Amino acid sequence: MPASELQKRAVYFLIFAVIVTLLLILFPIGEDWLHTYIAQFGFEMKDGSAVVKDVKDGFSPDPMIKTTVSLVVNFLHIIKVILWMALVIACVRFLSHLIMRTALRNAPAGEISSLLKTVLSVIVYIVAFFIIFQSQYPLVELAPLFTGSTIIGIVVGLALQDTLGNLFAGLALQADQSFQVGDVIAISNRGTGVVESVSWRGVKVRTFQNKLLVMSNAALGKETIEVAPRGNLNARVVNFYAAYTESPARIIKLVREAVRQAENVSAKMRPVVRIKNFGADSVEWEIKYWLDDYTKHNDTDALVRQRIWYAYNREGVEHHFTERHVYIESHTPEIVTEEEINTHVERLSSLSIFSPLSSEEISKLAEAAKARVYAPGEVIVRAGQEGNSMFVIKRGSVNVQIVENKLQKVVNTLVENDFFGEMSLLTGEPRSATVVAAEETEVLQIRKNALKPILETNPKLVESFGEIIEERKVTNRVEMDDDPAEKSKKRNGVMLSIRKFFGLKK
Ligand code: CMP
Repeated sequence: MPASELQKRAVYFLIFAVIVTLLLILFPIGEDWLHTYIAQFGFEMKDGSAVVKDVKDGFSPDPMIKTTVSLVVNFLHIIKVILWMALVIACVRFLSHLIMRTALRNAPAGEISSLLKTVLSVIVYIVAFFIIFQSQYPLVELAPLFTGSTIIGIVVGLALQDTLGNLFAGLALQADQSFQVGDVIAISNRGTGVVESVSWRGVKVRTFQNKLLVMSNAALGKETIEVAPRGNLNARVVNFYAAYTESPARIIKLVREAVRQAENVSAKMRPVVRIKNFGADSVEWEIKYWLDDYTKHNDTDALVRQRIWYAYNREGVEHHFTERHVYIESHTPEIVTEEEINTHVERLSSLSIFSPLSSEEISKLAEAAKARVYAPGEVIVRAGQEGNSMFVIKRGSVNVQIVENKLQKVVNTLVENDFFGEMSLLTGEPRSATVVAAEETEVLQIRKNALKPILETNPKLVESFGEIIEERKVTNRVEMDDDPAEKSKKRNGVMLSIRKFFGLKK
């Protein structure tokens, strides 16, 4: 809660407390006046109530006046009790709010339960009421009301049986801190969801179908509850399959890498990929991963499966080893059809950067290029990593991100026919930025060995790449130069490092 809200509460509380205190200070004046006034009718105040002043004289007041005087006196007593109780309630509410705030700040993982707060507040209210009431009505004994009457005790006891059962079950649940608001709990045969509130009567759980599951504390106390505490690194296991022909080392590396980047998969723990079973058609695998926010585990499980699909698709991993697949396996999965090569040729020849190339060179490049599909949000290249490929966007778009002041910042969005990854590929430097698919994006991947012979025969291409790399570096503020002479020097430097890296003659 922002500090301004606390200030607002403090101001309201102070205004209220001052008004009530003033009224309580002024009260004796009113009482004095009342004493003088009732004295006219032969009454005086004794032990908090109006009595006839001089009984000896045989004075007997009008019963009507007696009733009125006693009503007024009682009314004043009640007002006084109400004012004191109002002051106590305001103080308790403000203080409990302050304590909650401090406790929340000190223990971000949990919240002080509203149940405990309510119970403590009620205890304070009851004690305060006893004291205030007794001060106004010293002759009335309240204690026997609670201890003496067996019949009232039985009646109230029976009526409150369930309520008290819930209260004590709730207190027991709170005492061992099994779960708190915000935790995900699974109640056997009832459902799973996020704890929304814990009260003296029961617990409200928001299920993943957005229904509200309301359970009494007494019923909950008898259930087996599985708790995934908020803020704890909770794990999930997702199953998947791969053909027997796929080596375990390949699958482990591929799947771990694909899942590691998915949103809400914790970076604090490395996902564990392991063989679960040998099935009839395929190897059964499982991946265990940890979540930052367990309340989104269904979405994250789905995202993990999605990422595995994309990784399989890119790398041509087979799921099953069936008869039909035996037939398909007789071709290499990476084979590119003529039709595909033609579309690659068309695309690459339309890019201005490749305009210096002959149609033969374009064809060679197109043959070597591989189409790869990336999921929305998937990292295609990561800053700091080694890079041996560049990518031309076939469809979709990507965001280029760099870290500035410890925050990820998008410096550019690239769309169809733009390219990226050329900096590392051409200079041998680590990736200068992280490139993330903004939507489902298909790219053409061009590797270093495919580009090398082309660069050797096309010095103009080296020049164009050098210019673009220098421009991009300036945008990213790696270098800032307005001076054209300095700019051209830098560009030459980039071109030199490309030539050096590829072992090209001048
Ligand atoms: P590379 O350094 O290999 O990997 C990250 C890629 O992001 C980089 O190559 C460029 O292709 C691309 N890139 C970096 N900065 C920009 C920018 N400002 N605008 C467009 N693309 C960029």
